[in-house]
Amino acid sequence: MVPTIRIENIASYVGQQVTIQGWLYNSTHKGKLIFLRLRDGSGMTQGVVFRPDVGDDLFEMLKQIGQESSLMVTGTVRENERAPGVPKGYEVGVEQIKVLQETHEYPITPKEHGVEFLMDNRHLWLRSSLQWAVMRVRATIKRAIIDFLDDEGFLNIDTPIITPAAAEGTSTLFEIDYFDEKAFLAQTGQLYNEANIGAFGKVYCFGPTFRAEKSKTRRHLAEFWMVEPEMAFFDLDDLMAFEERFVEYIVQTTLARRGPELEMLERDTTVLANIKAPFPRMSYDEAVARIQAIREAADDPELKDLLQIEWGDDFGSPHETELAKQFGQPVFVYGYPTQVKAFYMEPWPGRPEVCKSVDLLAPEGYGEIIGGSERMSDPDVLMAAIKRHELPLEHYGWYVDLRKYGSVPHSGFGLGLERTVAWICGLEHIRQTSPFPRTLNRMKP
Ligand code: 4AD
Ligand code: MG
Repeated sequence: MVPTIRIENIASYVGQQVTIQGWLYNSTHKGKLIFLRLRDGSGMTQGVVFRPDVGDDLFEMLKQIGQESSLMVTGTVRENERAPGVPKGYEVGVEQIKVLQETHEYPITPKEHGVEFLMDNRHLWLRSSLQWAVMRVRATIKRAIIDFLDDEGFLNIDTPIITPAAAEGTSTLFEIDYFDEKAFLAQTGQLYNEANIGAFGKVYCFGPTFRAEKSKTRRHLAEFWMVEPEMAFFDLDDLMAFEERFVEYIVQTTLARRGPELEMLERDTTVLANIKAPFPRMSYDEAVARIQAIREAADDPELKDLLQIEWGDDFGSPHETELAKQFGQPVFVYGYPTQVKAFYMEPWPGRPEVCKSVDLLAPEGYGEIIGGSERMSDPDVLMAAIKRHELPLEHYGWYVDLRKYGSVPHSGFGLGLERTVAWICGLEHIRQTSPFPRTLNRMKP
């Protein structure tokens, strides 16, 4: 019996006859030879067809089959250091081929296509090598996240998607009809995780979250995945120390496991190799002063305009980008003004206009990848915040309860998966990090 193998394992079969099931990526021919680039989902390799081995009829047929024809190829695996592929350096000397479906005029040919065309054909575009590489990196990042948290003793717990109330501001809620009652798609699982820590100590949820963002930036999706760890007996300093270990682990694990994919994406991995804890930390106050200084020194009037900021303003992308540019590491900015952050953040002792929040800004213009904070632990302070934000009290009673029965200092954060993937892959736009992205102007296919 000839074994059917996955291309990713091809190195173990040198000298053996194997079958590969997959698709034709492209082909070239020269005299008595055809070079088939084959992909099977796990990798890519080269099939070399020699006319005398397969006969004239099959040879002529193989010369003209189109990209994405489905195939079963049987042949002997050889080493060839010049053979392209993932993994590199192997090829198959083809002995038999069964064409399952011959395809012609595949819409996404190697010619240049605009992004909108490619996104309209996302169901096919996913097969191309760069999209393939991104999804493999994404899966590895997810795995690294889960491994790290599980190994640290966290309980993975699922939080609801359908929720009656807002947690991250009312302007980005997707409203749904819940048996004639108003409900929303979850912006975060955090409030439920604050209940979960009372039962389990250290927890995380990891799933899709929704924001009706009316912004068309390269950092925003309407549906994205967020991992949200929440820890009892944790303050702001504990939080930063934990986050930097977490991010270092994610980056270094991905680098170690996805070298070929990052190479295909032409990612400068030396930048990633330097991502090591501890990360620089600065207060919002200091960050504003730095941005103002960068602005003063800037020559470009357009940049000067974009960097306009006063104490109390939230950061936009240009502020985050310029600030993070000063470091080769992700940067923590803590102690934002209370007015720009969510209602549940613990006030800074002696400075009620500031809260114990911390964002982590990625380098190279990728901006905020983590948002987190220490949470309010006093029921009266929380109740006052809920009223100040004019949130419907009937939906927050249970949340205030958590502060009445064994309240403890606690903290947590949310890391956006897609922004992390965009950064690690070095992608221009977040839409390529999701297999089927949902944005302001797209929910198809
Ligand atoms: O800063 P955010 O809004 O924080 C929360 O939702 C907290 N409840 C998390 C927590 O403390 N448990 O979002 C956290 C992260 C951001 O830093 C960003 O990486 C990502 O989620 N994010 C988005 N990613 C893509 N598209 C969007 N529209 C995003 N909004 C937030
Ligand atoms: Mg945020």
